[in-house]
Amino acid sequence: MRLTSTANAWIDWMRPKHLDQVLDIEAESFDEPWDENEFLQHTTDPYCFGLALLRRTPLSTDQVMAFAVVRRKLKSWRLLNFAVLKSARRQKVGSALMEEIKHRHRAAHLLGITGPWIADDVDEENLQMQLFLRSHKFQAKRITRNGHGAGIDTYTMVFKQPKQQRKA
Ligand SMILES: CC(C)(COP(=O)(O)OP(=O)(O)OC[C@H]1O[C@@H](n2cnc3c(N)ncnc32)[C@H](O)[C@@H]1OP(=O)(O)O)[C@@H](O)C(=O)NCCC(=O)NCCS
Repeated sequence: MRLTSTANAWIDWMRPKHLDQVLDIEAESFDEPWDENEFLQHTTDPYCFGLALLRRTPLSTDQVMAFAVVRRKLKSWRLLNFAVLKSARRQKVGSALMEEIKHRHRAAHLLGITGPWIADDVDEENLQMQLFLRSHKFQAKRITRNGHGAGIDTYTMVFKQPKQQRKA
């Protein structure tokens, strides 16, 4: 569990108790949202993990502000799903979650468990995610025709961990 710069917020594993709120964010974010089974399949897959950015509320349940599902591969990590609660966008909530993913990925890379890349396949029409990823130093590396079906091309956007600074 790690605190974030967002007030009263922290990042933790995505747990079954978060699923209802995650499904609501998913539904308001995508035309073809994942269902409960897809989330459960991915978050119980040993090569994947889910993170949730949570905010304490006066009510007993914590509020899910954003979530991510990430696949760990030998050469890279891949973002499989990433979304922020609509009413919380443009407040750096997504940035706090992305910084956490980069932080965990850097640790895994320095341990030699994975390569230096984090990748995401983004629909050509999803300008907000492309701009968000660019603000986090991702670059478009490849275009896949009809990547997500329905005639929509996808851009594979990639972040590369900077080389470790040598001590003088
Ligand atoms: C894309 C998304 C994750 C961004 O989350 P967010 O919390 O709003 O992003 P942040 O506030 O951290 O934004 C960081 C920077 O990204 C860029 N950015 C983010 N959203 C943007 C938008 N709608 N238009 C232009 N730039 C945007 C800006 O540079 C922004 O910095 P600024 O606000 O100082 O200008 C969010 O809009 C979302 O959940 N979209 C729907 C789900 C989705 O498309 N997921 C991707 C699937 S591949």
